[in-house]
Amino acid sequence: MLHLRVLLLAILVSMALCQYYDYDYQPAAQVEPRSPDCNPECDCPMNFRSAMYCDNRNLKFIPIVPTGIQYLYLQNNGIEEIKAGVFDNVTDTLRWLVLDNNNITNAKIEKGTIDKLAALEKLFFSYNKIKEPVIPVSKSLDELKMMHNKLNKFPAGLLTDKENLTSVSVQHNELTTESIAGAFKGPKKLLSIDVSYNKLRKLPAGVPNSLEVLYADNNEIDSIGAGYLNKLPSLQYLRLSHNKLQDSGIPAGVFNVTSLVELDLSFNKLQSIPEINESLEQLYLQANEINKFELTSFCKYVSPLNFSRLKHLRLDANNITHNNMPPESSECLRQASEIMFE
Ligand SMILES: *[C@@H]1O[C@H](CO)[C@@H](O)[C@H](O)[C@H]1NC(C)=O
Ligand SMILES: *[C@@H]1O[C@H](CO)[C@@H](O)[C@H](O)[C@H]1NC(C)=O
Ligand SMILES: *[C@@H]1O[C@H](CO)[C@@H](O)[C@H](O)[C@H]1NC(C)=O
Ligand SMILES: *[C@@H]1O[C@H](CO)[C@@H](O)[C@H](O)[C@H]1NC(C)=O
Ligand SMILES: *[C@@H]1O[C@H](CO)[C@@H](O)[C@H](O)[C@H]1NC(C)=O
Ligand SMILES: *[C@@H]1O[C@H](CO)[C@@H](O)[C@H](O)[C@H]1NC(C)=O
Ligand SMILES: *[C@@H]1O[C@H](CO)[C@@H](O)[C@H](O)[C@H]1NC(C)=O
Repeated sequence: MLHLRVLLLAILVSMALCQYYDYDYQPAAQVEPRSPDCNPECDCPMNFRSAMYCDNRNLKFIPIVPTGIQYLYLQNNGIEEIKAGVFDNVTDTLRWLVLDNNNITNAKIEKGTIDKLAALEKLFFSYNKIKEPVIPVSKSLDELKMMHNKLNKFPAGLLTDKENLTSVSVQHNELTTESIAGAFKGPKKLLSIDVSYNKLRKLPAGVPNSLEVLYADNNEIDSIGAGYLNKLPSLQYLRLSHNKLQDSGIPAGVFNVTSLVELDLSFNKLQSIPEINESLEQLYLQANEINKFELTSFCKYVSPLNFSRLKHLRLDANNITHNNMPPESSECLRQASEIMFE
């Protein structure tokens, strides 16, 4: 946008100058803004000249990107390779690169292409065929999406210097606990990680303490490390549904943290309700093997001042009914507008 404003200013200034000195010249020709020459394969809208749209065109490769382009859209093609040189004129200026829904493999990404981009802020690389992430040198990266690929490793250290990274989405890949050890270490502003639909047996280690959202559902997680959540004082949303959690994999007090607002433990193998802190608002426990209702899971004490903030509680598809709830429950769970048993 700054770019646009500068352009407008330049036009205004030259028009003003024209009025005084250049009556004989055609102002239009002279003030024509120096804009990128669009690659003929693509569209660069008149009112958004730093953007080049090359999406939905059956391209097999990336066209040369001209100087001046900051936003590049290449989604929905059949692109299979990234040849050296295509980004050479925009290595220091390209800010968004959208490559979703192509057929790119690591073997066909030449060195000196994505890795060299020094100003990239958003890299969208979902629905391709990469096995390893391709990370640009840019320290300004703020959003990384590589979902629905074939990622089976994410080496430690790749994101360490990405000081502005807020979101990483790598769901629907083939990542294992070992293959992502240390992957998310470093970025101090990271808010959200989605590692759902992978092959993790444990929650990712070494995630920054700025994290607010962690989605790890649909993995093979069978236990949570004691103290895991104590290292994440800002975590509000934790999804662990469709895993292999049993009571023995839930250390006492592991969910006793006050930041958590939503906890999804549905579709696991829990037999009892884990102890939660009074501040939790949403708890999903449906489709487990829960066979008892212990009020101490929600309230250590029941008194006018000590009660749970829980609003929604799902217990359907367990071995438990409304009759298992002790009478004092209504005092402890006084804010629960919905408790589902079936
Ligand atoms: C790339 O930059 C060079 C040197 O500035 C220039 O000659 C060339 O026309 C540019 N190519 C494109 C496609 O913008
Ligand atoms: C990727 O390649 C497969 C066959 O190799 C093809 O069926 C599919 O349509 C291609 N996808 C895209 C987005 O071009
Ligand atoms: C990170 O974001 C801040 C605030 O927007 C900005 O001032 C800073 O330059 C960014 N850092 C990098 C490396 O882009
Ligand atoms: C939960 O943690 C708080 C503070 O960290 C502690 O005071 C409290 O005793 C813990 N509750 C349980 C049930 O361990
Ligand atoms: C919930 O956390 C608060 C603050 O740390 C603590 O005082 C309280 O005892 C905790 N509740 C339970 C049930 O552990
Ligand atoms: C209940 O809560 C109050 C205030 O939060 C606290 O002082 C008291 O120790 C708690 N326990 C009981 C048993 O009431
Ligand atoms: C379900 O609960 C009932 C009554 O508490 C018990 O008799 C039965 O064995 C339980 N079934 C399973 C599969 O846990």
